[in-house]
Amino acid sequence: MSSEPAPTLGPTGGPGAAAARMRSLVAARRGAQLAQGADTEELAAQLREALDGFAALRMHYQAGIEEVRTKVDILRQEFEQIHDYSPIEHVRTRLKSSESLLDKALRTCDELSLPAIRRQILDIAGIRITCSFVSDVYWIAQMLERQPDLEVLQVKDYIARPKANGYRSLHLIVQVPVFLSTHTEHVPVELQIRTIAMDFWASVEHKLKYKYDADLPAHLAGELDEAARLATELDERMGHLREEIRPMPERAGDAHPRGGSGPDLGPVPEH
Ligand code: GTP
Ligand code: MG
Repeated sequence: MSSEPAPTLGPTGGPGAAAARMRSLVAARRGAQLAQGADTEELAAQLREALDGFAALRMHYQAGIEEVRTKVDILRQEFEQIHDYSPIEHVRTRLKSSESLLDKALRTCDELSLPAIRRQILDIAGIRITCSFVSDVYWIAQMLERQPDLEVLQVKDYIARPKANGYRSLHLIVQVPVFLSTHTEHVPVELQIRTIAMDFWASVEHKLKYKYDADLPAHLAGELDEAARLATELDERMGHLREEIRPMPERAGDAHPRGGSGPDLGPVPEH
């Protein structure tokens, strides 16, 4: 990337604005450089370098997704083999699109550069895990947190403390090493772990938010509120039924392998 000072980044005007803004930034920079006598080949080389860097970044984050996905799949397979049951119902992954990455970079990064994007945007790689029971959500988080090559950078427990709109989910940012031919990249991956009820609610809320933007009619906001309450109640009831099916034995506390330095995600349920 260029060593020029980063352009000042103002707020953007929504989807599509990112691309338009980028075009005008590039045009402004190009105009300034042409005025200074920089030749077209130099500009083309800079552009090529930026595009190569961006493609490499996407490849590293995709590899990060695959590393964590494999860990989740192994836990699922092991459980199915031993217990004939899996605490994991679904796993979905996504790499943030280039358009929304650029949009977020323009909104949130202090400069438009690949190092700033890597440092400041932690949800380029995303994995969503859906479970039947709340206890399984915490269990999966702890199994992953205990793996020595995963570093937990951030935990947001919206189950213990739901958002004001009723959103519940456990969010972790974990950093995973991606081993390349010449070096190792440490890639952050956003994990959202939630029950089926939480996922159902979040998916409907997302669609409504998308449709109405900030102007959700009061009666729909009320319905959503009630649905969030019912989803929480459903999770509690299912939790009781789960204990009927497979009573949880006494737990001997959490034996944290790294001396308790990681986040406290609560005790690990036994299956
Ligand atoms: P970004 O919104 O991605 O910039 O992240 P943040 O720093 O606000 O983090 P947070 O952990 O609160 O949210 C990350 C992601 O969780 C979002 O991108 C959504 O996928 C999901 N999420 C958070 N809050 C809500 C919500 O109120 N409703 C729904 N449907 N999803 C949410
Ligand atoms: Mg996000």
